Amino acid sequence: MATDAMPRFPDGFLWGVSTSAHQIEGAAGLRGPSVWDAFTAEPGRVRDGSTAAVACDHYHRYREDVALLADLGVDAYRFSVSWPRVDSPGGLDFYDRLVDELCAAGVRPVPTLFHWDLPAGLDWLERDTAARFAQYVSRVAGRLGDRVGKWITLNEPAEHTLLGHALGAHAPGRRLLFDALPVAHHQLLAHGLAVRALRAEGATDIGIANSHGPTWPASDDPADREAADFYDLLLNRMFADPLLTGRYPEGIGDLMPGDVAADLEVVAEPLDWYGVNYYAPTRVGAPQGAGTEFGGVTLPAGLPFSVRPVEGRPLTDFGWPVVPEGLTELLTGFRERYGDRLPPVVITENGCSYEGLDDRDRIAYLDGHVRALHRAVEAGVDVRGYFVWSLLDNFEWAEGYARRFGLVHVDFTTLERTPKASYGWFRDLLAGQRRAP
Ligand code: NOJ
Repeated sequence: MATDAMPRFPDGFLWGVSTSAHQIEGAAGLRGPSVWDAFTAEPGRVRDGSTAAVACDHYHRYREDVALLADLGVDAYRFSVSWPRVDSPGGLDFYDRLVDELCAAGVRPVPTLFHWDLPAGLDWLERDTAARFAQYVSRVAGRLGDRVGKWITLNEPAEHTLLGHALGAHAPGRRLLFDALPVAHHQLLAHGLAVRALRAEGATDIGIANSHGPTWPASDDPADREAADFYDLLLNRMFADPLLTGRYPEGIGDLMPGDVAADLEVVAEPLDWYGVNYYAPTRVGAPQGAGTEFGGVTLPAGLPFSVRPVEGRPLTDFGWPVVPEGLTELLTGFRERYGDRLPPVVITENGCSYEGLDDRDRIAYLDGHVRALHRAVEAGVDVRGYFVWSLLDNFEWAEGYARRFGLVHVDFTTLERTPKASYGWFRDLLAGQRRAP
């Protein structure tokens, strides 16, 4: 970790932390089931066999968690609204209470409207799910819009498509490979319809949280470069291009269902800002057959690329390489690719999994990434905020409770919260940013 003073970010820069409903709320009996409940009930789907039925029990302990946010000194808190909870009696009341508590503590609420916990019975392969999403969004905005200014439509539609519908590693556990493409299109359409629904309710500060990372070819060999370009198209451009340019990358639009040209007009509703979740770059080469790993999943044979290790870097407990300058590269690359079509950027997630309360590795990771972000600002990228993933250790999807991303440790037996060393580090950073220059 660098010891020199943290550079100063522009005035009004928004500092925050993120969570999501399914990963922290628990109180599963007080909401309808989601696709994740069915998935985790199947043996072998979650590494430690756990479920999110209780998780951090945030539903009952939200006051304690808001107090942690207030002590930390963040400007904003990104959480997600659970669609199956909103569909249940009294569900919206919970978010009403949470938003009130945040406002009273001086922390800006930043809800994400979909973070993967689709109500059971709905399906992103169906076009109608997009319209249903917009109706649900109107209800949430109608209830919370008097206190919520900043909204996020979807979280990581790329991962939800790839891991949930193409590779079967996340709910709903489908292995459709390229037949999963309609899931991407319907989520993008849902996003556009949600932007319209939010604006109809008076919202003026709307973004999306997409996962992005630089794609590094395994070598200069044309076969490796071609494979890396394809991967970049699938994970980065397939989601950013339609949102920012109103077009799919070449060849992709023809594979999508429905009246794609008309849908793209909806998808490309102008955004007030663009959210980026950044963790690490990906090294990609020509296909090597079955057996290569991606995010804990063994990739099937027949894909036109293979994912290779990023060598010579420290790894987090998850095995992800620590590459802070990848964030600078990503953002300056986005600026080059999209020019003035790129609205102001907010880093909606960045973080790492490590064990322990004295989490110096996490501090080093975050310190390096915040400095890398500042280099992007110096290079002219308009960055307006940075959110750490995550406030709390939580249910890390198919990894269960084995991966700890929190600034605050959670004992999953007693549910006791204990701030880690990184919590103190982030609090000091925020205090330093607020001191007069
Ligand atoms: C992205 C997802 O949005 C979040 O739910 C997940 O926990 C983190 N990445 C870490 O994997």
